[in-house]
Amino acid sequence: MQNTSTDMTGKTCLVTGANSGIGLETAKGLAALGADLILVCRDPQRGENARKEIIATTGVDRIDLLIADISLMASVRELADQINRDYPQLHVLINNAGVMLSKRQLTSEGYEMQYAVHHLAPFLLTHLLLDKLKASSPARIINLTSKMHT
Ligand SMILES: NC(=O)c1ccc[n+]([C@@H]2O[C@H](COP(=O)([O-])OP(=O)(O)OC[C@H]3O[C@@H](n4cnc5c(N)ncnc54)[C@H](OP(=O)(O)O)[C@@H]3O)[C@@H](O)[C@H]2O)c1
Repeated sequence: MQNTSTDMTGKTCLVTGANSGIGLETAKGLAALGADLILVCRDPQRGENARKEIIATTGVDRIDLLIADISLMASVRELADQINRDYPQLHVLINNAGVMLSKRQLTSEGYEMQYAVHHLAPFLLTHLLLDKLKASSPARIINLTSKMHT
């Protein structure tokens, strides 16, 4: 983790796909800077393991775990409803969750899986949380991207 003097105390930060890889490290970094975290994971056990790991490595326990399968737009809508209802502010939205599949796979809603996870879900989640982000200004939206679609 890079040294930085940025203080994120009092800032609420949401990370999708926060139970492994870049999302988990990002969440740890934000926790270490003092942020309140919302981890969005699809698997409750993997999410809880990540929550415990972040607490163990940073000592910060202001961490909520929300369960959502962001390949499904119905789940994205439920997630956004929950955040808009339960959190007074949202300062950082990090659309990180991603998949890399070697075979074409459709979601139960009929969308190609990678298109749903990497394009539709970040667009819909951002759109549904935009008013809260604006009201929490200064706020930031960070989208993790990949060249793999080419
Ligand atoms: N690593 C790289 O070199 C690289 C390069 C360019 C771009 N990126 C981008 O960076 C982001 C993170 O990559 P990474 O390497 O850290 O990947 P990773 O280790 O495979 O982590 C991906 C995370 O996304 C979650 N996820 C996948 N599908 C989901 C769904 N439907 N609903 C909720 N969560 C879901 C995974 O949860 P599960 O554990 O439940 O599967 C996991 O926590 C991705 O968007 C990727 O495209 C990575």
